[in-house]
Amino acid sequence: MIKRITSYDEYKYNYKKSIAEPDSFWGEVAEGFHWKEKWKQVHSGNFDAVNFKWFEGAKLNLSENCLDVHLKSNADKVAIIWEPNNPDEENRTLTYRQLHREVCKFSNVLKQLGIKKGDTVCIYMPMIPELAIVMLACARIGAIHSIVFGGFSAHSLSGRINDACCKLLITADGFYRGEKPVYLKNISDEALKNCDSIKNVIVFRRAMIDIDVVAGRDLFWDQLMLNASDEFTAESMDSEDPLLILYTSGSTGKPKGVEHTTAGYMVYAGFTFLNVFQYREHDVFWCTADIGWITGHSYVVYGPLLNGATTLMFEGIPSYPDWSRWWNIIDKYGVNIFYTAPTAIRSFEAQGSQHLNDAKLNTLRVLGSVGEPINEEAWKWYNEMIGKNNCPIVDTWWQTETGGILITSLAGITPTKPSFATLPFFGVEPVIVDNNGVILNDILAEGNLCIKHSWPGQARTIFKDHDLFLKTYFSNYRGLYFTGDGCRRNENGFYRITGRIDDVIKVSGHRIGTAEVENAINEHKDVVESAVVAIPHYIKGEAIIAFVICTKKINDEEKLGKEIIQIVSEIIGPIAKPEKVFVVSGLPKTRSGKIMRRILRKIAEGNPEQVGDLSTLLNPEVVEEIKAVFAN
Ligand code: PRX
Repeated sequence: MIKRITSYDEYKYNYKKSIAEPDSFWGEVAEGFHWKEKWKQVHSGNFDAVNFKWFEGAKLNLSENCLDVHLKSNADKVAIIWEPNNPDEENRTLTYRQLHREVCKFSNVLKQLGIKKGDTVCIYMPMIPELAIVMLACARIGAIHSIVFGGFSAHSLSGRINDACCKLLITADGFYRGEKPVYLKNISDEALKNCDSIKNVIVFRRAMIDIDVVAGRDLFWDQLMLNASDEFTAESMDSEDPLLILYTSGSTGKPKGVEHTTAGYMVYAGFTFLNVFQYREHDVFWCTADIGWITGHSYVVYGPLLNGATTLMFEGIPSYPDWSRWWNIIDKYGVNIFYTAPTAIRSFEAQGSQHLNDAKLNTLRVLGSVGEPINEEAWKWYNEMIGKNNCPIVDTWWQTETGGILITSLAGITPTKPSFATLPFFGVEPVIVDNNGVILNDILAEGNLCIKHSWPGQARTIFKDHDLFLKTYFSNYRGLYFTGDGCRRNENGFYRITGRIDDVIKVSGHRIGTAEVENAINEHKDVVESAVVAIPHYIKGEAIIAFVICTKKINDEEKLGKEIIQIVSEIIGPIAKPEKVFVVSGLPKTRSGKIMRRILRKIAEGNPEQVGDLSTLLNPEVVEEIKAVFAN
């Protein structure tokens, strides 16, 4: 049984203990999981040497913890409820017994294709149960999975496959998002023109659309599974064996392959799921995130399954066939815990309440928010319209790198406050640091959010680039993990995340690096240089605005804008498309050549009077020109 905290007093007592005696605290939590061999040491290493490890010396298998351990008493409990994109298509459920069987079969398929412990496997799939089956099969045989979100382009897919040297790609023919087909296999074929490491492609036939088949390389899921044995003894993994790689954007142009290891990630995902959402035995849990993001990894698949929960997976989009779809799903399956992103909440808010007319929503007990700051208005709408003023909202702050939730309330147990993530989770010691690296010890503080000690779910490295890991997260403030977020602490010690303070943008909760978008824009033949900034957008949270300098005079700026948007979609994916593109003759730069994005942001936001001191600029005259472009 995973340790459960049930009162505010227990939270306070255990939080103190988790900070004062982390080894004893986490050792006790880890007892709730299944180990083939126990650890010799709970935790070692530190942020100076960037060599932290958890549960060293132990042997385990994550898929066994998600499946086999539940077979004795809960084999016929539903593990996954799957709701298809098209409401007229039949839904599916998989019990723990059925899921275990499919995972064992697919583990044998992987083994037959020569995939071994430590190999990397790329997954580019729709939100279907087979995606979870592949993840769990990889974990079962000890292969490292690297999931690429189905909205990424061929270029993004090939970049990720090459960086991780994946041997196998698992994809589908395609799927529908609402009425729009997404041709995953075609995109994969395009990507694989530039990938030498891939030996085979396994295709799951989901949309029944025509695809090209490369003989000798492409194999079909149904044929491979037909005769696969449903017995597979889970591989014995070391605690620190890599479990997964997930690419995420940062300040540099290239997305980073964040690497999580087995035992720490497992303990953290399982323990946070139970306690943050206060999951109860018969609850139906629905996290709307795509499994292509960390939220889907930890709280659609691993966290719920580690707890023997019923997790709902939805293939579609909130607006198809109409905006009542999500609420119908909640009522149809009696969802008790619902976890989504502020951008979705704001989209519903903007649609008006008529889509809620037929919704009962009376099974809901807990609501969650993740991915970006939630503004008070959206919080109130969520609370009143969905929670009927009767469900605690957990505003969960965390990151791809953190593996699980770090700052949050515990549903119904610790206090909540609109737009505050509130209090740290067990073992998490947030600190607010000023720009000089001084830790602000007063209770009221505002600055850069760092974390003082390691927690089990923390990423261990960037795949094959530990130096970059060190530089990105541990070099800004010595001995601290730097999150990249700004933060404020109030008189109650509650934390409010104010947003990214680096060159990362959050568009509809998706994490996008400005340099990545600029590199894509610069591929346009007429563009010499570009700069992108984020401006506030009520529904998306932030929107991307691009400034471009061109090689020649542009007569049709609208056409150029469209071409640039198209290029960004092709190179990264539609999620990174700029909202608007402005042609300018220069970009404000410091004497050392650094683009002053702050100035561009102020102008784009509509606050040109706040551009501040321009005396350090190499070319202050361009600021007036850019202001004029916006004034028109
Ligand atoms: O800026 C923070 C924001 O999302 C960033 C992490 O993005 P990603 O790695 O894609 O993971 C998202 C899902 C865990 C953070 O640095 N963020 C995430 N949750 C919140 C948030 N900002 C404010 N409040 C949150 N609850």
